[in-house]
Amino acid sequence: MKTAPLHCIVLAAGQGTRMKSALPKVLHPVAGRPMLAHVLDAARALSAAAVHVVHGHGGDQVRAWFEASRRPDAVRWAHQAEQKGTAHAVQQAMPAVPDDAIVLVMYGDVPLISAQTLAQLIDAARRTLAVLTVELDDPTGYGRILRDRRHRVSGIVEEKDANARQRRIREVNTGFVAAPAKRLRGWLKEVRNDNAKGEYYLTDIVALAVRDKLEVATITAASAEEVEGINDRIQLARAERVYQRRQATGLLAAGLSLADPERFDLRGTLLHGRDVHVDVGCVLEGRVELGDGVRIGPHCVLRDVILGAGTIVDAHSVLEKAVAGRDCRIGPFARLRPDAALADDVHVGNFVEIKKVRLGRGSKANHLAYLGDGDVGAGVNIGAGTIFCNYDGANKHETIIEDGAFIGSDTQLVAPVRVGRGATVGAGSTIVRDVPAGGLTLCRAREQKTYPNWKRPVKK
Ligand code: UD1
Ligand code: CA
Repeated sequence: MKTAPLHCIVLAAGQGTRMKSALPKVLHPVAGRPMLAHVLDAARALSAAAVHVVHGHGGDQVRAWFEASRRPDAVRWAHQAEQKGTAHAVQQAMPAVPDDAIVLVMYGDVPLISAQTLAQLIDAARRTLAVLTVELDDPTGYGRILRDRRHRVSGIVEEKDANARQRRIREVNTGFVAAPAKRLRGWLKEVRNDNAKGEYYLTDIVALAVRDKLEVATITAASAEEVEGINDRIQLARAERVYQRRQATGLLAAGLSLADPERFDLRGTLLHGRDVHVDVGCVLEGRVELGDGVRIGPHCVLRDVILGAGTIVDAHSVLEKAVAGRDCRIGPFARLRPDAALADDVHVGNFVEIKKVRLGRGSKANHLAYLGDGDVGAGVNIGAGTIFCNYDGANKHETIIEDGAFIGSDTQLVAPVRVGRGATVGAGSTIVRDVPAGGLTLCRAREQKTYPNWKRPVKK
């Protein structure tokens, strides 16, 4: 028998007033990615035949994000011009759903929902309506699950429409429901808006299913955290912590060493070797790869970075789109900008900024330097205060330093310029022409003078 195709309908038309934001609610990030991206991930993990997103407020922004994100999933957009309730929202997508489908209704603002839980819900919905519920200590605000004496579901009552006895029920509707499309289509036509909010409630389909002599199935969510809808930034921050804690726990289990899993943030993917240690307060973004034995000191930011085995990054370093080989020492307070590429055994010390420069094996820039646009060979020593003057106000030029050169402190290399193999540049030089290999090149006032009778000015 052919299994019914799964159509997910993601409700994302709400305004999200309580976020107090110009950004549509579903675009607020958890672990660096919009809540909607997490929900779409869950739909993809379920191998949905189609995903429909019902948008309204900020719909253009939502679609623009989706286009820019280049996600592989195809999304069908349904516009809900006016928010008349969850049943009305689902109806906007139904014309594009075939009768033989199973429909899963998802919320765009429930980012921690897991595909495993939803798979159970879909299984239960092959022939009937299935509702994902959860037991809450404080059910305030949620629709309550009503059951008859034989514990069968008889309906859902919204908080505003519930009486005092119903409000004491702790089993609540998470909002995720699944049902055969044909049945759902029929029920949606019958939903009315004669309730406290004057909205078309999706939850009313439960009573309609019961009327149609169906036994409504319920699946209980594994945790309340998983199904928490995000309405304000307090809940958003809480969801972020839950997500980060789970991620950190997974990484610890996979052998990563974290000084404190509560003070670790990964907004992307981390690939790590054995015995990698990350100290407190680090933020890792994009795709980060850390080889065996890499150590990251406290309060570092790593964004799209690859570090070879044995490399150490000391405190307060910021690395972006940079690559380092094995056994490098970076920081404290180092800044590697895009296309900084360090070979093995390279040292980059405090207050050194590197952009679009390759440094060869064993080279060192240990203090206070700006290296932008260029190529540095192997075994080069770059003194404190060295600057690659790469920008003439209009164009960028390259500085090339060949193997074994020694650049004295406080040297300005005015690009385009080349320093030959094994050359030594004297401290304080402003180099405007190519430096030949070997020998000492320097460029400063010829003689050092002393005025023995000079008097310091005194305050009047
Ligand atoms: C809804 C459920 C409630 C459940 C709760 C779980 C109904 C009637 N009630 O209540 O039983 O306990 O979720 O969080 O379904 N939306 C639209 N268009 C609309 C209305 C809503 O897209 O016209 C979207 C919202 O953006 C949101 C979701 O649907 O993502 C839920 O809507 P909301 O108004 O927050 O429903 P609740 O009152 O929380
Ligand atoms: Ca809500």
